[in-house]
Amino acid sequence: MSDLKVLIVCLGNICRSPMGEAVLRDVANKRGISDITVDSCGTAGYHVGELPDDRTVSTCRKHQIPIEHSARQIQTSDFTEFTHILAADESNLRNLERIRPKNATAELCLWGSFLDHKPIADPYYGGMNGFEQVYQQCVALSNAFLDKIGR
Ligand SMILES: *[C@@H]1O[C@H](CO)[C@@H](O)[C@H](O)[C@H]1NC(C)=O
Repeated sequence: MSDLKVLIVCLGNICRSPMGEAVLRDVANKRGISDITVDSCGTAGYHVGELPDDRTVSTCRKHQIPIEHSARQIQTSDFTEFTHILAADESNLRNLERIRPKNATAELCLWGSFLDHKPIADPYYGGMNGFEQVYQQCVALSNAFLDKIGR
């Protein structure tokens, strides 16, 4: 099977998508999948260069998931560099569809389409509980994604 290169995308790349990146990498490792690269980015550039939100970091620590990321914005080359681009919500998906180049090779879809078609809600303006929910959703979505593609 060919290498998997998965890009998780949300709006600012500090809350949901770095969590998704860390969780998918961890779930894949635990399944013994070694030929996978996971990265994340935002559709917007507000937080470029920033570390993940403290609440994303503490939620990952609590579950012993290593997390290390510096925020970046989506770029055209991502559409040919990655095999799968997974959007956190419908708004992110629409923005990605709008900038997708003609030569895109990555499969682009809502991450939730592998499970229940639900978006990952932005936890930024809520409390810690929202981050825990995002974590649980990322675990379920990581397993659903890997199941669906037969890994
Ligand atoms: C795809 O198209 C973009 C322009 O839309 C171009 O910059 C890029 O080099 C192309 N990539 C490949 C792999 O052909």
